[in-house]
Amino acid sequence: MDLGIKNKYALVTGGTHGIGKAIALSLADEGCNVAVCSRTFPRIRETQEQLKAKGVDCLAIQADVMIKEDINRVFNMVIEKWGTLHILVNNVGGGGRWGKEDIEATDEKVWQEVYEKNVMSSIRFVKLVIPYMRKQKWGRIVNITSIYGREAGGRPWFNIAKTAQTVLMKNLSLKKDLVRNGITFNSIAPGGIMIPDTGWEVEQKKDPVAFRAMLNEKFPLGRLGKPEEVASVVAFICSEKASLVNGASIPVDGSEGRSF
Ligand SMILES: NC(=O)c1ccc[n+]([C@@H]2O[C@H](COP(=O)([O-])OP(=O)(O)OC[C@H]3O[C@@H](n4cnc5c(N)ncnc54)[C@H](OP(=O)(O)O)[C@@H]3O)[C@@H](O)[C@H]2O)c1
Repeated sequence: MDLGIKNKYALVTGGTHGIGKAIALSLADEGCNVAVCSRTFPRIRETQEQLKAKGVDCLAIQADVMIKEDINRVFNMVIEKWGTLHILVNNVGGGGRWGKEDIEATDEKVWQEVYEKNVMSSIRFVKLVIPYMRKQKWGRIVNITSIYGREAGGRPWFNIAKTAQTVLMKNLSLKKDLVRNGITFNSIAPGGIMIPDTGWEVEQKKDPVAFRAMLNEKFPLGRLGKPEEVASVVAFICSEKASLVNGASIPVDGSEGRSF
């Protein structure tokens, strides 16, 4: 199926590792020109090379989305290079393992930082991109949330932040002046996805037997997801073909989540 997004311009925040990188590569496979931003230089350079190898134009920017000035700088660089943006994927997020199990032992700063990383960064990029999408009468905005953006569970600061990201997309999907100008707003809610060098891998290495038992117990498929399994759904939602999908929160979790 031709997704109809060849030559569009896309920005994937945190597109240099894990789910974000898989999304960036998957959009490039569809012929999109892709910008990514993240903090660590070797990852940025490696992703830039991989995007270039797919024959698309790309931009790889070192930036920290916790810093408002960095967000503005990333966006300005994209606009300077391409003049507009068609697809925004707010992928940077996390904090599900930050703080302590015990809410009383967890500093208030954790709540604020998790909110800032997931929610404020999304809001800031959305505000910057909307005028361009409205003008060109076409846009796709996707927040990468979590099953805990759809139901109660996990650590509360993460649950709140991911839910807020989902609400942001649903709320904007109701704004007639935006959606009647060809912009859609959706959330993709991954379940546990195995990413090298992150929390799941640490847990697996610590106690492989307990980890396997946990997978068997909690995950209907008996396994974690792969970043590419999330990326292919995101690419479809960002496509011309998904024009009626607006305000959706789509689980990509092998039915790990319990919500309908
Ligand atoms: N993996 C899962 O099981 C899972 C489950 C549900 C939801 N999610 C969600 O999926 C999204 C991606 O998670 P992931 O597991 O793929 O994470 P990951 O592998 O750790 O990748 C995160 C990406 O974001 C970048 N990044 C992190 N903090 C940043 C910051 N402050 N400014 C700019 N870039 C930053 C990272 O690069 P640098 O570190 O170099 O900056 C990296 O490119 C998150 O929103 C997460 O909450 C993941």
